Amino acid sequence: MDIQRGNPWAGFAGRRVIAPSLLACDFAHVGREIDRALDAGADVIHVDVMDGHFVSNLSMGPPVVGSLRKYTDAVLDVHIMVTDPAFYIERFADAGADSITFHIEATDEALVLIERLGVLGLGAGVSLRPATEPEALSEVIEAVDLVLVMTVEPGYGGQEFMYDMLDKITAVRGMLRSDQRLQVDGGIDNDTIVRCARSGADVFVAGSNIFRADDIAEAIGGLRQAVGSN
Ligand code: DX5
Ligand code: ZN
Repeated sequence: MDIQRGNPWAGFAGRRVIAPSLLACDFAHVGREIDRALDAGADVIHVDVMDGHFVSNLSMGPPVVGSLRKYTDAVLDVHIMVTDPAFYIERFADAGADSITFHIEATDEALVLIERLGVLGLGAGVSLRPATEPEALSEVIEAVDLVLVMTVEPGYGGQEFMYDMLDKITAVRGMLRSDQRLQVDGGIDNDTIVRCARSGADVFVAGSNIFRADDIAEAIGGLRQAVGSN
């Protein structure tokens, strides 16, 4: 598959998208883990970037994304949980990200950053922490390719799904056009994915449920079957 610059989400129009989060993979064998996920039917690879400031955890930086870019043509969906998204957007774009989602809480210039992502030829996503109201999106809602509603507090994999985020998903879906994607991230399993889909989500990030499963194909197949392929 050729790498297509531009909004990669347009390539999944009308489809539900399964996005395994590498955060839960075996980092000693990350290339093999990506292959396992893609062979099992993953649509994109979700990359969780944590800077130890915006969230207390540390994960990976631009050199890692650069290595992943050399290894795979798969869409790299990079979720940056960082206090300085303006600085890091440039670096992750250079490293080869296809789409970057930053946190609305981390910047006063979200619209500028979305425009910058457009100029760089990347998909542009904006994320909300659980405590952030949908109204925070008002200035950027028309410009984004994707909104990520966090369904756990960002920072760690393996947390319990927050059911009170379902109303927020419904509210955000009501604000979006049909070509804009609504992603959920955190605590996604065969049950919670259905609830999120019914509330209007169409891109599903799952870490533990996929990479910690005994059979990754069964895990991704189960998620896909739970929500249907489109
Ligand atoms: C949390 C990350 C998630 C996380 C999801 O800050 O953004 O992508 O890896 O992990 P699970 O699916 O294990 O809840
Ligand atoms: Zn994430």
